[in-house]
Amino acid sequence: MSDFSIEANNLSKKFGDLPAVQDLSFKVRTGEIYGLVGPDGAGKTTTIRMLATIMRATSGEAKVAGYDLQRDVEKIRLKIGYVAQVFNLYQDLTVSENLDFFAGIYAISDEERNERKKELLRFSRLDRFLDRRAGLLSGGMQKKLAVSCALMHEPEILLLDEPTIGVDPLSRQELWDILLELNGRGVTLLVSTTYMDEAERFGRLAFIDKGKMIAEGTPAELKQRYAREVDSNSLEAAWRTLAGQGGDA
Ligand SMILES: Nc1ncnc2c1ncn2[C@@H]1O[C@H](COP(=O)(O)OP(=O)(O)O)[C@@H](O)[C@H]1O
Ligand SMILES: [Mg+2]
Repeated sequence: MSDFSIEANNLSKKFGDLPAVQDLSFKVRTGEIYGLVGPDGAGKTTTIRMLATIMRATSGEAKVAGYDLQRDVEKIRLKIGYVAQVFNLYQDLTVSENLDFFAGIYAISDEERNERKKELLRFSRLDRFLDRRAGLLSGGMQKKLAVSCALMHEPEILLLDEPTIGVDPLSRQELWDILLELNGRGVTLLVSTTYMDEAERFGRLAFIDKGKMIAEGTPAELKQRYAREVDSNSLEAAWRTLAGQGGDA
């Protein structure tokens, strides 16, 4: 296995004249939890969509699971799971049927599917809701189901776009317990968030603003470098220092 699960090199995306992502370069180590942190419109979703092979980059390149993003799309898709910011679930299908559907996409055998379903349902604490329609689950349970679906083909890398948005605080903690357990089993996580408190959980993170990386490091490094306010040693304070520097495109 390579040292890096994701290597983005000057990755850029333009929508017309709008540079949504500009020359983004970062490396996610295998086994790491890496965060993309920034406000709405910063370019987090666009970055994740490009790495998930859903959207083509305008320029730049990337390797995901050691494969070239432009050339090896199919190989990358087998190695990654993607949990979109807006659910990719079927609201009219039950919990069980949603998992079956994803198993079908990846052509997983019936026997293996049943094993993995059992395991995933236990893992996500959804076993009691097998026959409930996805649309009738709480926000937190829907997210857990979306994560479970993304894990059906046992990916090495999980891309999670604002996984805790629309999830109540209690379920947020539970979802993080699940993600941490998954990471403990060796799955590399790339996670985006707008929440600075949540960013404390990341091994390393990139602050993203207006499509550009403005700083990168561990939470402790970023706080030490940039949290200058006397009464606050938080990532929020670090962000305020950096965002206050301008950096307009
Ligand atoms: N499909 C699209 N067409 C045009 N503009 C887009 C599209 N998707 C995103 N954008 C714009 O690109 C910028 C980055 O958006 P996005 O990646 O969704 O940011 P974030 O996920 O950090 O909120 C925003 O200005 C947004 O309006
Ligand atoms: Mg987004």
